Amino acid sequence: MRFDVVTLFPEMFGVVRDLGVTGRAHAQGRWSLHAWNPRDFTQDVHRTVDDRPYGGGPGMVMMAAPLEAAVNAAQAARAAQGLGRAPVALLAPVGQRYDQAGAETLAASEGIILICGRYEGVDQRFIERCVTHEISLGDFVLSGGEIAALAVIDAAVRLLPGVLNDGDSALQDSFNETLSGLLDSPHYTRPEVYEGASVPAPLLSGHHANIARWRRERSLALTATRRPELIEAARAQGWLSKLDERYLAELTGIDVPGTKTPSHRRKPRKTVSGDVPPVAPGTPETSDPS
Ligand SMILES: C[S@@+](CC[C@H](N)C(=O)[O-])C[C@H]1O[C@@H](n2cnc3c(N)ncnc32)[C@H](O)[C@@H]1O
Repeated sequence: MRFDVVTLFPEMFGVVRDLGVTGRAHAQGRWSLHAWNPRDFTQDVHRTVDDRPYGGGPGMVMMAAPLEAAVNAAQAARAAQGLGRAPVALLAPVGQRYDQAGAETLAASEGIILICGRYEGVDQRFIERCVTHEISLGDFVLSGGEIAALAVIDAAVRLLPGVLNDGDSALQDSFNETLSGLLDSPHYTRPEVYEGASVPAPLLSGHHANIARWRRERSLALTATRRPELIEAARAQGWLSKLDERYLAELTGIDVPGTKTPSHRRKPRKTVSGDVPPVAPGTPETSDPS
């Protein structure tokens, strides 16, 4: 898989190329990274890549010509390598939100050309002529597209075959179909007791089915609290078992047809907040679905 990145700061990409899981995979030749600096495609002595915005206003705008020339060079290099024309994605707050499905689609492809904006953004005519996709990292504004591009690359590369040591570990991550698209359950490691807090008993039991059930229930509870729409999506896909539905019904006090827990087995209604770790700062609390 090949990534081409058009950026004024190629040195920022050493982070994903040289370090950690993605660095190891790069060293193994599982993916490649090629940076193209728009300054190398300028015609003037000052290597100008930006200018003031028409209509006035603050900041500068990246000029179309150096960006287009850089994209053309990247496409030509890919063609010389026997690859087809690549999609060209501009990192932009106005783009489509990058998610796990996007990372999976990208990981299954030959790669992409990523354009990192700076300043106030890039000349719209470049977008209309050359850009096939616009990708956002979220509803916030970064100083440039590089950090967003790093996230795009990292999330896709770790999904490539053989990149993760334990071949299953990506399957157990949040949003993965193997996990029914739910959020991952909490993790614990040694020591068994830390500052008075013990590892939950099922994880110490050595009983695989109980451990799997405990993890599934923690996933369900966490997802129901923080991302209830993911529960709905899993349900629509038919990914929730009767046992899952029964657990969710117990959690919320709502009976789901066909999954009614016999009254002698019904536990007192659980408060969701008592079941899952506190919501991270900035994460919107969802209302109790009951
Ligand atoms: C300071 S931002 C420009 C923001 C732009 N004026 C706006 O309000 O939408 C400079 C560059 O950072 C990148 N960027 C900023 N926020 C981003 C986000 N949430 N996702 C992806 N890229 C982003 C884009 O490439 C953008 O051109």
